[in-house]
Amino acid sequence: MKNVYVLGISAFYHNSAAALVKNGEVVAAAEEERFTRVKGDSSFPINAVKFCMDTENIKMADVEKVVFYEDTAKKFARIMTTSLLVAPKGINQYLHSTPQWITKKLWTQRRITKELGIKNDKLAFIPHHLSHAAAAFYPSPFEKAAVLTVDGVGEWTTLSWGVCENTEIKLLKELRFPDSLGLLYSAFTVYTGFKVNNGEYKMMGLAPYGKPVYVDLIKENLVNIYDDGSFVLNQKYFSYTTKMDTINKAFEDLFGRKRREPESEIDSFYADVAASIQEVTDEIVLKTAKHIKESTGMSNIVLAGGVALNVTAMGKLRRSGLFENIWVQPAAGDAGGALGAALHGYYCEAGRKRTAEKTDSMKSSYLGYAIKDSDEAGDAELEKLGAVWTEYAPDKLQRKIAELIDGGKIVAIARGSAEFGPRALGNRSILADARRAEMLRHLNLRIKFREGFRPFAPAVIEEDADKYFDMEGTSPYMLFTVPVKAERRLGVEYGDTLVATAAKARSDIPAVTHVDYSARVQTVNKEQTPFFYGVLESFRQITGCSVVVNTSFNVRGEPIVNTAADAYRCFMKSGIDYVVIGNRLLDKELQKGGAANGKNEKRKNVQ
Ligand SMILES: [Fe+2]
Repeated sequence: MKNVYVLGISAFYHNSAAALVKNGEVVAAAEEERFTRVKGDSSFPINAVKFCMDTENIKMADVEKVVFYEDTAKKFARIMTTSLLVAPKGINQYLHSTPQWITKKLWTQRRITKELGIKNDKLAFIPHHLSHAAAAFYPSPFEKAAVLTVDGVGEWTTLSWGVCENTEIKLLKELRFPDSLGLLYSAFTVYTGFKVNNGEYKMMGLAPYGKPVYVDLIKENLVNIYDDGSFVLNQKYFSYTTKMDTINKAFEDLFGRKRREPESEIDSFYADVAASIQEVTDEIVLKTAKHIKESTGMSNIVLAGGVALNVTAMGKLRRSGLFENIWVQPAAGDAGGALGAALHGYYCEAGRKRTAEKTDSMKSSYLGYAIKDSDEAGDAELEKLGAVWTEYAPDKLQRKIAELIDGGKIVAIARGSAEFGPRALGNRSILADARRAEMLRHLNLRIKFREGFRPFAPAVIEEDADKYFDMEGTSPYMLFTVPVKAERRLGVEYGDTLVATAAKARSDIPAVTHVDYSARVQTVNKEQTPFFYGVLESFRQITGCSVVVNTSFNVRGEPIVNTAADAYRCFMKSGIDYVVIGNRLLDKELQKGGAANGKNEKRKNVQ
């Protein structure tokens, strides 16, 4: 039987991506930024497409259909209408948006067909929120589920929900622009001094340092929330319909202070504001989920859209018990729209069957570019960069990594297929000892060169998760925060600054315990992630501890590493002590002196 391939594309806004589905199975997915090394690259994902084609060794002629993740014409209509409705104030937005739309979006069809060398009839467009819904449901482990998609805006829609069963997705209700939870959260991201589209994580990390003292102020002035979770934003305080900004002077006056200057010191006021908007976000998500539960009676819920990456809200939703099971698409943002578009393109044809799998069909999100364990081309590439290494058999390598982490070393891993989505889950990760309180400061400032207050996440052996965290079930994609167990906690101490507060030990795994005792946990499964599991198991044997710090293998402002060469470069310019590239282990100290004895050692059979 001939294989049926469908290619999904997301592009031209931020974080372009491509994904390939073969007979309903996701076989490859990657963000363009990983190849071009431009963070959040929004250009046409030609490298990601090529990667998808190469993975299956096929050509565009072998692809049945290409599906774009949004309906360009509808989106254009929204931009035009919004601009005209608020004219003359909206003229600014109109002027900024129109040229970009004309060149990049109105002509999307022509652009894609030209880039890929395909005819118009091979290209389909589906609504943005349907792409998110498809990415949330099709790879999930459920036969049927309620679906909730929440983001900034896609065409007109900002939130949608519905029901899914087998191959069918029915979106029943939606909220429309300008009432948007994603844009509300982004407005506060800007106000607290971070950038839209990648600063949301930072504000979420800041929130636990503050107290939610502005919740009433926000609910009385900015957002009117109804019992079913729907809401109306008071446009008096926002400016995203009128100019290329999100908040205005009225917003700043309401809080009595100007927006924080980016990179300036963060005082408790902005932490309190972050805590307040987080609580409002949690309330909207929970009320909406409750309404969906009452309306659909489903026991499962699946989620996607940028707001689904809010691990605090997702953690609360999970703990609420509203639904028996919750599954969040790990690439919940717009990159994941490419995956949803491809899956929808496959399943929307009559007669195609979908079988829900026991876990899910995301393959642990290991869908991106693969680094081979051991190969001559990889050796040659690294030698050209002056790299020196020792090659180990995988089990020896796992033991070695565990010993190094126990000794206080920082070890990065670039091995196997890169993760699709924003989280590094063991294949492009930096690992460190979670028991050492100083690791938080060290990793933030010397390794990742990022803000000192930001928390780090734990990876834990799946079977041991409930020994460390108050949680039931698994969390393989690091998409939920959970509380650290009460018996592991130490008393709360606050320092003079956020960074000083962050440095205080709050549990016996202090490097991964946030100021409110929460942790964004990754549970590591033996079958699904065997190499990473082996590292953790070795670490447990040596230390008795089943937890390590797992943070993405990149430095501030750069995409996560993709290739062996990317990994080596990032290793050399940061404070990382060791890097694993395939089965090779590289020691920073040895790199400085160049090649040891002019050749590299292979120790595949070391006992
Ligand atoms: Fe979106």
